[in-house]
Amino acid sequence: MTKQLEDLLSFLRFASVSTDSDHTSDVRDCAEWLIKKLEHMGLDTELHETPQHPIVVARNKHVAGKKTCLIYGHYDVQPVDPVELWDSPPFEPEIRDGRIWGRGSTDNKGQMLAHVLGVEQTLEEEGELPVNLIFLFEGEEEIGSPNLVPFIEKHKAELQCDVIAVSDTGMVSKGVPTLGYGLRGIACCEVTVKGPAGDLHSGVYGGAVANPATAVARLVASLHDSEGNVAIEGFYDEVRPLEDWERNMWAEVPGMSEQDMLAVTGSPALFGEPGYSSAERLWARPTAEVNGIGSGYQGEGSKTVLPAEAMAKFSFRLVPDQDPKDIMKKVQAHLEKHCPEGVTVEVEVGHDGKPFYADPHSKNGKAGQEALRQAFGKEPVLIREGGSIPIIQDMKEIFGVEALMLGLALPDCQIHAPNENYYVENFEAGIRLNRALLKELAK
Ligand code: BES
Ligand code: ZN
Repeated sequence: MTKQLEDLLSFLRFASVSTDSDHTSDVRDCAEWLIKKLEHMGLDTELHETPQHPIVVARNKHVAGKKTCLIYGHYDVQPVDPVELWDSPPFEPEIRDGRIWGRGSTDNKGQMLAHVLGVEQTLEEEGELPVNLIFLFEGEEEIGSPNLVPFIEKHKAELQCDVIAVSDTGMVSKGVPTLGYGLRGIACCEVTVKGPAGDLHSGVYGGAVANPATAVARLVASLHDSEGNVAIEGFYDEVRPLEDWERNMWAEVPGMSEQDMLAVTGSPALFGEPGYSSAERLWARPTAEVNGIGSGYQGEGSKTVLPAEAMAKFSFRLVPDQDPKDIMKKVQAHLEKHCPEGVTVEVEVGHDGKPFYADPHSKNGKAGQEALRQAFGKEPVLIREGGSIPIIQDMKEIFGVEALMLGLALPDCQIHAPNENYYVENFEAGIRLNRALLKELAK
């Protein structure tokens, strides 16, 4: 095994689950491993404390006249459940069938470490980098980066850069280099529906008082009309229409056909907003999703209960020029208006993030495309992404610079799910990509 793969396996053994307080020390240990690695490469490194998980910053010796490139990544990972569905333990990474299996292998440890190891190789072979480099790695991306914006604002002068690069997004298909020039935004909330003071016998009281589980189901159903459009008043008001050049370009992108989508999702049929292709629905249209729903008896057999409470977790994916705060107000108004009789509804507003959009044909965009071309030996495709990395738009605004998304996640990498995996060939391509990118950006 190469030293680089060994490094990745070591990195993956930390159970750096940011959302779970039982793993707080694992997140820290992971940050410290990273610090050691970066120091060993000869970079100046700092571990910054936050109210939750540490931020890691590393840089080479900056030289006047060179471009400054900030590479962002996250070393925290999603929870592993349902853990029984993994074929090998999530934090005991294994290499099988040309892939590295383990939580975080793609999202985001494998992708970010490729940048670190690209820099290591360049330093070993050439002694210096073509750019002034800043690595900015956080341990809170999967929980909405609560402490990163304040950190960046406080250290704006030291972190100021000319361009941002990130590999935390997707590739449309194996071997097809992909430049992302957009991300959806997000707004989350949790809804609690309350009925009687306590659980009731569903025979003794059912029919005379409202059932919160029925009410939450009605609320969930009220989010869409029968065709699949989001039914919240004003939801689409600020949506920037798709342009013809994008629609034409995306129609040619491999890996996005109906058959591809059915195969990768395993769904019996595709569904979504009428009048749009899957690519358009995912990359340029907003959505309302239920991420969790619960109430009443979930155990074996039946239990005749009228539950006192029900809950649902919602997230809304947003596109330019929707504003998450404005959308959340519209969501709250909608839920209050549609609250069924006989129950009350409470909305707890969660984290949010703005959508991101950049010109893929700018000078930096072209440098990103050229780096992808060199790393994969093929013409890159240009896409927007369905997922969200809210900090990218925040950094774009704070530093006033562009961001390039050089994704290495394949559709079957199962990020956020059991059996997350990363193709060894993409790890190797990521290392080449970093080297080509820094050279191209320096020009
Ligand atoms: N790497 C993903 C985002 C992503 C995945 C973008 C694939 C494009 C393609 C990131 O780690 C993530 O999961 N982000 C969360 C953001 C949220 C917690 C604020 C998301 O999109 O759900
Ligand atoms: Zn993620």
